[in-house]
Amino acid sequence: MCGIIAYIGDQEALPRLIEGLRRLEYRGYDSAGVALIEPDGVWLRRAVGRVAGLAAETSDGCTSKVGIAHTRWATHGGVTLENTHPHLDATHRIAVVHNGIIENMEALKAVLIADGVEFLSETDTEVLPHLIRRHYTGDPLEAVRAALSHVHGTYGIAVAFADHPDVLIAARFGSPLVIGLGDGETVLASDPQAIVAHTRRVLYLDDREIAVISADGAKVQRLSGGDVNRDVSLIEADYAVAELGGHEHFMAKEIWEQPDALLRCLRGRVQIERGNAKLGGLNMTPRDMVNIREVVTVGCGTAYHAGMVGSMAIEHLARLPAHAEVASEFRNRHPIIPPDALYFAVSQSGETADTLGAVEEILVKGGQVMGVVNVVGSSIARTCGAGVYVYAGPEIAVASTKAFTSQVTALLVFTLMLARTRNQSLAQGENIARALLEAPDKLQEYLDDPGPIDAAADLVKDAKYCMFMGRGFSYPVALEGALKLKEISYVPCEAYPAGEMKHGPIAMLEDGTPVIVIAPRGSQRDKVISNIKEVQARGARTIIVHTRGDDEMARLADVSIPVPEVREFISPLLTVVPLQLLAYKVGIALGRDIDKPRNLAKSVTVE
Ligand code: AGP
Repeated sequence: MCGIIAYIGDQEALPRLIEGLRRLEYRGYDSAGVALIEPDGVWLRRAVGRVAGLAAETSDGCTSKVGIAHTRWATHGGVTLENTHPHLDATHRIAVVHNGIIENMEALKAVLIADGVEFLSETDTEVLPHLIRRHYTGDPLEAVRAALSHVHGTYGIAVAFADHPDVLIAARFGSPLVIGLGDGETVLASDPQAIVAHTRRVLYLDDREIAVISADGAKVQRLSGGDVNRDVSLIEADYAVAELGGHEHFMAKEIWEQPDALLRCLRGRVQIERGNAKLGGLNMTPRDMVNIREVVTVGCGTAYHAGMVGSMAIEHLARLPAHAEVASEFRNRHPIIPPDALYFAVSQSGETADTLGAVEEILVKGGQVMGVVNVVGSSIARTCGAGVYVYAGPEIAVASTKAFTSQVTALLVFTLMLARTRNQSLAQGENIARALLEAPDKLQEYLDDPGPIDAAADLVKDAKYCMFMGRGFSYPVALEGALKLKEISYVPCEAYPAGEMKHGPIAMLEDGTPVIVIAPRGSQRDKVISNIKEVQARGARTIIVHTRGDDEMARLADVSIPVPEVREFISPLLTVVPLQLLAYKVGIALGRDIDKPRNLAKSVTVE
């Protein structure tokens, strides 16, 4: 979603705000803007497109030491200069940046227009500076507090007042904000990545909290009144400015980082000699696990697909009912939350509004939910209070790759623990543990020889439609492969269970249609072969991801992509990587913006 950064301190604000926006740009990049406080008012510069465009707009410079900035992912209103944040009140002495959605914007606009306010944008955000102005009687904190009392919806905001150059006001409900406490400077941002260049000492704002920020620090209050004594936290993650490391794109870097990411996720957690694993963050004993009667994962997009793999592995190995839910559907259908069910909220960013909403719905019904999250200290991780960090490291590319394999790995580690409290013996546990610990090397072995990805990309890049298909553990992989191809290359494609393909979708096939089949050695291999022959009979060109040494599959394929042999429940960690590379190569062939594809944002913090 949108990126917010604000600075107040003893240094010039402008370069720090622009650099901060560059670190946040992956969150949304339709347009960007900055507002600095000068004695005679607000110095405002905005630009449609990337932060680099805004930097060019600010070349005339400004020496102010206090300001706010924003990079936008459009929700209300098109991608235009008028809709770009910051937004100002009519006097041009109050500036606001906002992340979230104001659900009663129309009602608020009507009242303000009746008061003579002239709106210059289509955004919901623009009601805020006008509302604040309406309640301003000299106290910036109380003006913001009063204005927000009329707002329904979600927000993370930063507000600057020309009348008060020594403070900034921040408030949060539903969209993340973190305050960095530097030496003679304070930085507010929607993501810790924009803060670590200044300090690792931070205060996390929680929902319905408001803060007065000065160069000396911050005072946090409840929106309803009363001080909040928030302990200072330390950002642990290594948010060193994510370098490309010799790669052309972050997506490539993050695909090739996966063996190391899996090693970090497994390190210290899996013990072959005990045929078991431990995940300290779960705070669960084997006794607690024995009482679990069902496991449910909730997530969005790639995280949902990872949850599908994890739930299949739980049913397969622990023989416990398990399934995956799309968070946006789950949270809004008044779900039944069994007291003996265990929920996992799967999320790379830990800020996805739909997943956070699902967590809150589970908790309000007395359910038990754990986070499976990459970003340490994120809202979902903190709201769950317990769970598993996947330690994939910062994932900058909008399309999720290493987070997927790390989320699956973390869920497989839990599966081993759960299975050992039930039907898996010590010897069987040792085998599962060994299979898990071998996965990073198997992945590295594949990456050392990825196979004919270019040939596969040649088949796909000009296609008007592609189909992905797989059975069992390979069906979520087919879904993930189709999502990657759509996200990166915009080539129309779908994914189906291979057995379902003949119940209608096969009508889409014509001579030359690429069909990508995920078919590692496994329990349904022979059935998949039948499905391959069914699509080939309709003229499809097949790209088959299969187990190395499976010569029959290799012969069947128009393009054969072998991956090292692993146990079936481990296979998604291997079979997804050729599909990541395929999407990457097709995106390059079509000249797409690989790390920032159109219309997308790295973390969708609105519903
Ligand atoms: C993945 O490539 C997409 N960018 C998107 O589907 C993403 O997985 C989804 O928005 C969930 O994000 P999260 O993992 O940060 O919660």
